[in-house]
Amino acid sequence: MASFPSTSRVMLMLTLIVGSLMATYASNFYQDFDVTWGDGRGKILNSGQLLTLSLDKASGSGFQSKNEYMFGKIDMQLKLVPGNSAGTVTAYYLSSKGSTWDEIDFEFLGNLSGDPYILHTNVFCQGKGNREQQFYLWFDPTADFHTYSVLWNPQRIIFSVDGTPIREFKNLESKGVPFPKNQPMRIYSSLWNADDWATRGGLVKTDWTQGPFTASYRNFNANACVWSSGASSCSSSSPSSASTGNAWLSQELDSTGQERLNWVHQNYMIYNYCEDTKRFPQGLPPECTMS
Ligand SMILES: *[C@@H]1O[C@H](CO)[C@@H](O)[C@H](O)[C@H]1NC(C)=O
Repeated sequence: MASFPSTSRVMLMLTLIVGSLMATYASNFYQDFDVTWGDGRGKILNSGQLLTLSLDKASGSGFQSKNEYMFGKIDMQLKLVPGNSAGTVTAYYLSSKGSTWDEIDFEFLGNLSGDPYILHTNVFCQGKGNREQQFYLWFDPTADFHTYSVLWNPQRIIFSVDGTPIREFKNLESKGVPFPKNQPMRIYSSLWNADDWATRGGLVKTDWTQGPFTASYRNFNANACVWSSGASSCSSSSPSSASTGNAWLSQELDSTGQERLNWVHQNYMIYNYCEDTKRFPQGLPPECTMS
């Protein structure tokens, strides 16, 4: 009997190994994250496919990525605290360390049952934020999982919700605006009590009889450059993106993306620092007037 040619056998083995790595990489919280605080209130479940954070009167909880990233296209699905979530904040963000840190923020401000969450976003460069934009969502973020994404490449940061871009922060260093591109960032998330400001500006307090409050995470996916010992290596981690390679590193908004972003801004944006002339009597920040 003819034996299986050894090169095809090797190829087959490689295919199986690579296939299984890719299949499991996309979402295993054990592999990619550590629950960092909350004394058991943060849990990784279903063999690493699901992560939950909870908050009660004694404490919230949080997790962070094992890796630091220097640019990436990072997707996470979140299902937010349902029912009466007033006073709670679920923060999901990228951040570097130190006193001149960079940060890219999603924060979900809870509300009374039936009242809308606010999605609060911000960009910090070298320790300075003050770039808030806030949105309502076009769906109930507590009824199901939805995908929240950050595209961070050397030219721009794009925040997206279910693939719809909601915010773009461009690299305008040539005009003197700092841009996060020299400090690697980790992914963080936490669920905590912020009833001094979160819901209707702090008017509605957390109702602890409704606790514990729980937010859930799944399907983390990063096409990103992982930072390790002062150098970064970029890779595509999911089978679906293998064919497009590192296209995200130079991705920009196409005309459809721009139209959808305009749609969100016209219909769902509730605060934009770039339009808050009272707050900036000396003139709006430069990135606001230079598109
Ligand atoms: C909560 O609901 C009120 C009333 O609809 C709304 O004004 C507010 O923007 C909502 N969200 C938050 C986080 O306060």
